[in-house]
Order: sequence, then structure tokens, then C-alpha cells
Amino acid sequence: MKNSIISIVNAKGGVGKSTATCNLGIALSRQNKNVLVIDLDPQANTTSILIPPNINCPNTFYEYINKSAPIEKCIYPTFEKNLWCLPNVSEANNLEPDLIKKQNFEGIRKSRSFLKKTYNFILCDCPPNMGTWVMTALFGSDFVIIPNLANSTFSIDGLLKAIKLIEQIKQKENPSLKFLRLLINQVDKRKSISKFNIAQIFQYFPKNKVFETMIPTNAPFETAEAHRTTIFQEAPASNGCKAYRCLAKEIISILEDKKNRNDQTEE
Ligand SMILES: Nc1ncnc2c1ncn2[C@@H]1O[C@H](COP(=O)(O)OP(=O)(O)OP(=O)(O)O)[C@@H](O)[C@H]1O
Ligand SMILES: [Mg+2]
Repeated sequence: MKNSIISIVNAKGGVGKSTATCNLGIALSRQNKNVLVIDLDPQANTTSILIPPNINCPNTFYEYINKSAPIEKCIYPTFEKNLWCLPNVSEANNLEPDLIKKQNFEGIRKSRSFLKKTYNFILCDCPPNMGTWVMTALFGSDFVIIPNLANSTFSIDGLLKAIKLIEQIKQKENPSLKFLRLLINQVDKRKSISKFNIAQIFQYFPKNKVFETMIPTNAPFETAEAHRTTIFQEAPASNGCKAYRCLAKEIISILEDKKNRNDQTEE
């Protein structure tokens, strides 16, 4: 299997990008994959979940972008054996105006060869917009996963914005960028809004652009967040946790199968 850089993107907030990044990171690492999570969101939610509070991080995404700290000096172990994290801090917000002025979105792309040599999966958690950090992630990525809420019609708007940006970047700056799949999150099959939105999604997307694994609405996701941890620690037997285990296996099988990789990952 070729090592892959995957961005988790949606212009809408609260659709489950960070939850997906953290839990998928753990699930993939438990499939014996070496995984790095890069937190490109200055809200730093993913950082606060993956990096134990007793670990001091002198170099973060801020130092990497602003002071050209070597990327390997900005990566820290997490509580999981094969899972690493490049943390973020709120100060990274201050770097945006200058990067926009210089149209410099090379932050991930410049380290692609190191990243792809060192990790099987590099997951980039993005902020809820289509700005500097999302551009930076997409310039350097192989694939994009878009989480989308089954229980909110508005998240389809954020999803369509993300698809448009992927298309633009694919045409100009990163021709090898591919939209991997949509991840339908917070599915509650008892609710008609879930059924309605899922039907809507399949009007826009063919089946091979949507993960077969859907993530159910599950209370332990919220309690895990309150405890600044993941559902793998909070409730390993829960349906939400099972779903992320399935999702990791689905992604590995999509990317491991060469024929599949070529056919199914093409736009
Ligand atoms: N399947 C789920 N069931 C129940 N709650 C969930 C589920 N997935 C995510 N959540 C909860 O939804 C909220 C938003 O999730 P998350 O922070 O991952 O979204 P986000 O897209 O990263 O948000 P932002 O755009 O602000 O970065 C969190 O409280 C999280 O615990
Ligand atoms: Mg987030």
C-alpha cells in the first residue's frame, strides 16, 4: 500500500472533522499502521485530545510554519503506540494574513517526502472554512475525506463548497489530489431527517464516493470530548467505536487494492 496524506475537510463547523481525525487515527494505528495526525486548526481541539497534558510541546505547527522548525522536531508521541501528532496552538491564527498575502500554501507540500517516507497515513484535521490552512492541507494531500452530518441539511452546503475547492486545486496546484469519500456522520436511522439527508446525498454522489461505513449518533462521543479523550478510551464497546474500526478497515481495503485505488479513487 502506498502511504497517503489525507485531509479531513468541510467548510461547515461541528460536522465531526476532529472527531473523525482522532478516532480514525487510533483505529488505523491499531491496524498496525504508523499514523501521524497534523492539527491544522488553530482551535487545537485535536491537539488537546491526542497530546497528554503532561507532554511539553516546545515546537508546534506555529514554529513549523513561522520559524521553519524542522518538521520532525514538531512531532510528538500520543497515548497510542503507533500514533503521532503535530500539535497546533491558537497563535497560528496570526500567521494567516502574511501567508495569504504571499499566497504561500506550501506548509505540508514542502515536507511530503519526509511524511510519506515515515508514516503509512498522515491525517490532516482542518478548520471549518476554506481558508489558508485548508489550502495548505490540500496543496500537500493525496486524498480528501469530507465528513457530513446526516441530521443537518446545512452541512450539505459546506460539503459542496469543499468539493468546489478540491476541483480548483486539482486543476491547478495539485493534479494528484483526489476526493476519496464522503463520511456520513451522526446517523440516527429512527429520525426521518437522517433518512431524508442521506437520500439527498446520494442524489449528488455515486455510491463509490460515499463510505459504506456510516457513523451513528452515539452519546459516548460527547462524553469522550468532555473528558478530552476519544471514544476508544471512553467506550470501546460502543457502536461509535465499532464504526471507526470498520471505517479504518474500509479505508485500508480501498487504498490497498491497486485496482481499487486507481478505479475507485478517480474522480
Ligand atoms: N457520531 C457522533 N455522535 C454524537 N456526537 C458526535 C458525533 N461525532 C461528533 N460528535 C460531537 O459533535 C461535536 C462536533 O464534533 P467535532 O469537534 O469533531 O466537529 P468539527 O467539524 O471538528 O468542528 P470544528 O469545525 O469546530 O472544528 C463534538 O461535540 C463531538 O463530540
Ligand atoms: Mg475540529
